[in-house]
Amino acid sequence: MNPLTINIDRISKTVSKAEIDAFEPEIKKHIESLYHKTGKGNDFLGWLTLLSEIDNALIKRIENDANRIKKNAEIFIVIGIGGSYLGARAVIDALSNNFSSILSVSERKAPLIIYAGNNISEDYLADLLELLDKKEYAIAVVSKSGTTTEPAIAFRILKQHIEKKYGKVAAKDRIIAITDKSKGALKKLADKEGYSTYTIPDNVGGRYSVLTPVGLLPIAVAGFDISKLIEGAKAMKNQTSTAIPFKENPAAIYAAARNALLKKGKSIEVLASFTPNLHFIIEWWKQLYGESEGKEGKGIFPAGVDYTSDLHSMGQYLQEGKRNLFETVISVGKSKKELRIPFDTENADGLNFIAQKKISEVNKMAELGTMIAHVDGDLPNILIYMDALNEENIGQLIYFFEMACAISGYLLGVNPFDQPGVEAYKNNMFALLGKPGFEKETEIIRKRL
Ligand code: PA5
Repeated sequence: MNPLTINIDRISKTVSKAEIDAFEPEIKKHIESLYHKTGKGNDFLGWLTLLSEIDNALIKRIENDANRIKKNAEIFIVIGIGGSYLGARAVIDALSNNFSSILSVSERKAPLIIYAGNNISEDYLADLLELLDKKEYAIAVVSKSGTTTEPAIAFRILKQHIEKKYGKVAAKDRIIAITDKSKGALKKLADKEGYSTYTIPDNVGGRYSVLTPVGLLPIAVAGFDISKLIEGAKAMKNQTSTAIPFKENPAAIYAAARNALLKKGKSIEVLASFTPNLHFIIEWWKQLYGESEGKEGKGIFPAGVDYTSDLHSMGQYLQEGKRNLFETVISVGKSKKELRIPFDTENADGLNFIAQKKISEVNKMAELGTMIAHVDGDLPNILIYMDALNEENIGQLIYFFEMACAISGYLLGVNPFDQPGVEAYKNNMFALLGKPGFEKETEIIRKRL
């Protein structure tokens, strides 16, 4: 496994080396406080220790369940929202064939993973039911709290569908619940119905849960090697521990760079990649950083773009718009497959100058050209490099972002492990829907309409 690396040379026009190095003592203190559980949110630091707690028995159990699901399902529905689905989707999309959704099960060698409970769209759920009428499927319902509205609605609908399709007894064997060990409506329901369940550790928050059964089960069902994913994360854990000097710790460097840039007024970070497979890694990162840092009027706003596609839309703004942004590019060294640009005798498109080049070489030049153009346009650039898209590297990337996020949150002085702000919309929605217990709020909010 080659180590993931970070390069901050292209922020030097905005932030000096000395300004980065100035973060060293504070970051050292924050890493120690993470390990010694003395910082804010220290009851949610289970992600730091869970890698050594994942034993062979858990891996075996997940793989056995995954194999059982693979045998009797063409589709595996993952019901969850936020941290209860984004991590799984990020890893699965990063490693999958770009067209896996239209490949047959035998071509894919695994069920198609479909997500539900991450929106309240009537058409989405109705379309899904129409599809499931014709397909063999199984469900993982994922909710740490066990009370989140979006997945609860989706599960209520899909539970009725699966029970009607297979009968209550057979349906039970097609449903797996991943939730708290004792609390919440989902846990109660799972116990009552006798579903197979996995526990989300108390001390792991949703957005830090991808390396628990929340992510590991769907990733295994999709056909990927969860042991290698964990190996990669462990390697990054070693590379970001208290024993590693500041300059050799990629998470420390990333946290220092983004906070130094924030001090210079760069309050929006745009995470970009030139690989469509990484779209949901960017979505997962947005949740991780948005929920962890955006509070108390603080934080770096996490935005995401897919290049080169977005160079033809957001590219204009990034190059010449308001200069309150910086960019972080996740760069992938090798592609999995090889495809060259063919020679064309007519050369009507004028592309013969790149004939016989691999598409990845052209993409790499687009990447370099973009980064240089952006730096010239005062858009500082951080580069995160991995040599290929595989389980180990994605495991490294996940742990790298998690660790850097925790350090960054502490640098900002916030608790990176809570999300009090997400309650506001829920309370209004409950009041508007007339939920029992919300009578007063209902009266007040209806007057505002
Ligand atoms: O990171 C978080 O804690 C949140 O994004 C949750 O994952 C999300 O709100 C879903 O919560 P739950 O798993 O309790 O349904």
